[in-house]
Amino acid sequence: MRKPKILVLATGGTIAGSAASPENVTGYQAGVIGIDELLSAVPEIRDFAGVRSEQLCNIDSKDMTDEILIRLTARVNEIAAKNEADGVVITHGTDTMEETAFFLSLTVKTEKPVVMTGAMLPATAKNADGPRNLFDAVCVAACPESSGKGVLVVMNGKIFAAKEVTKTHTTKIDAFAAPDSGPLGHVDDNGVAFERTPNLPRLHFPADSPLPRVDILYGHEGDDGALVEAALHAGAKGIVYAGMGNGNIPAKAEKALAKASEKGIVVVRASRSNSGPVVPADPSYAAAGFIDSGMLNPQKARVLLRLALGQTGNREEVRRIFENL
Ligand code: SIN
Repeated sequence: MRKPKILVLATGGTIAGSAASPENVTGYQAGVIGIDELLSAVPEIRDFAGVRSEQLCNIDSKDMTDEILIRLTARVNEIAAKNEADGVVITHGTDTMEETAFFLSLTVKTEKPVVMTGAMLPATAKNADGPRNLFDAVCVAACPESSGKGVLVVMNGKIFAAKEVTKTHTTKIDAFAAPDSGPLGHVDDNGVAFERTPNLPRLHFPADSPLPRVDILYGHEGDDGALVEAALHAGAKGIVYAGMGNGNIPAKAEKALAKASEKGIVVVRASRSNSGPVVPADPSYAAAGFIDSGMLNPQKARVLLRLALGQTGNREEVRRIFENL
């Protein structure tokens, strides 16, 4: 039987990290080791998949750039269009994996499995989690049931939807969760098992031009809104406000945001709480034209707002995009 062809695109992260000693699990450099060396740590993959690899970049994901995101989207779309593989695996740092996964879920057009993975411990650690995660990610990408499920994230034996997943722990191996919905499925020694199908984004955006600046402002006691002016000064076309609870905004910051909104800046209310939707609240928010982030956390609301503002400067159209996600 023909083995599924899997293309592994490597971008760096802790999965490619190197420390001075096998005991060292926090003081290390991410994005150092090449993908061929990482794959050689899991030769069993070749038993069930024909694997090729490409090193797209080798960075710490905190330094992800628009240029790399756009290149990654273009390459995945090309692999799909030219039928170069049956599935794609992307290795990536865990710190911004959820943002890249969500970005790809809105910009990549394919039914083929696109699976992201990473690691919490560097490749040199004696108990490194990267090899297992890479093995699992290739299993998921090679599984016919993964088709049409959008961009997936596979970490620590769990399979998540790009729209739902978030990093919830700074250091533990079990660092990823979908707080409102749980994982889509699991992968273990028995294989790949999906427990439900994801609600895929209904929207698709081109990712071929510079994306407008959107800043996230983090709500806190005593916020006087001074940073709203700083964001505008820096050229922001949109602001995501990570508010308290259901996206609530302290009065002075609300006033500054309402002023920005009057000038045509699109303001999205998100929440610094880790789960639950942001839904209509104080009528003054609607009166000022603020948009509710719904189920999107601040970093994902920023991704969508940038893509939306790349298409339209019309706030009502942006609102519809958020409502129709
Ligand atoms: C990174 O995000 O590149 C570093 C941290 C990690 O991968 O866990």
